[in-house]
Amino acid sequence: MNTVIERLESDPDYLKSHWSLPREDARFLYLLARIGGFRRMLEVGTSVGYSTLHLAQAASAQNAHVTTIDASAERQAQALSHLREAGLDGWVNLLHGDALTVLKSLQAESQTFDLMFIDARKSEYLAYMEMAEQLLGPGGVLLADNTRSHRKQMANFIEAINASPGWETSDLETPNGFVLARKREARLSE
Ligand SMILES: C[S@@+](CC[C@H](N)C(=O)[O-])C[C@H]1O[C@@H](n2cnc3c(N)ncnc32)[C@H](O)[C@@H]1O
Repeated sequence: MNTVIERLESDPDYLKSHWSLPREDARFLYLLARIGGFRRMLEVGTSVGYSTLHLAQAASAQNAHVTTIDASAERQAQALSHLREAGLDGWVNLLHGDALTVLKSLQAESQTFDLMFIDARKSEYLAYMEMAEQLLGPGGVLLADNTRSHRKQMANFIEAINASPGWETSDLETPNGFVLARKREARLSE
């Protein structure tokens, strides 16, 4: 793993105080990105860039690109500094702003992604999922964080995605918990 990631991991208080993924969850995110070979990855919730570094590490190995959104300019500045230090900033586009507003503008530009990782305001996960239905191409993958640690706050999202015929899902009991979902291809009419 990258030396900047290792250095951040040697300061668990810094990572915890910025709500970064637990190490095992970050490793899962990295491996998912590598195994999936995703070329266009979207992250909602950059914070100081610990998860972004993992996505960028995968992107650098497979000629891919990461777009990441956060409402905090101060935390995103720290993320950019970590990415620069790791030599990974060239694979990442940092977008500052409210997630729903930025996602709407990506929709308006007809941008599409093949992996969307959501780790921002828990009460908005359902809205992020609804936007993912347009932002992800067929077979696109959605990974939602905190489905164990904040299960009650996002119960509406968990219920909706598991019940939706548009998604294939798995509820993963990692340290913070993930819902992993694959967007189904549209059915051919009979
Ligand atoms: C849990 S942290 C992200 C941690 C990061 N993914 C990691 O593992 O390193 C959540 C981040 O989402 C951002 N956030 C929360 N609600 C948001 C919103 N509505 N729009 C944009 N960013 C938001 C916060 O500013 C915070 O930095």
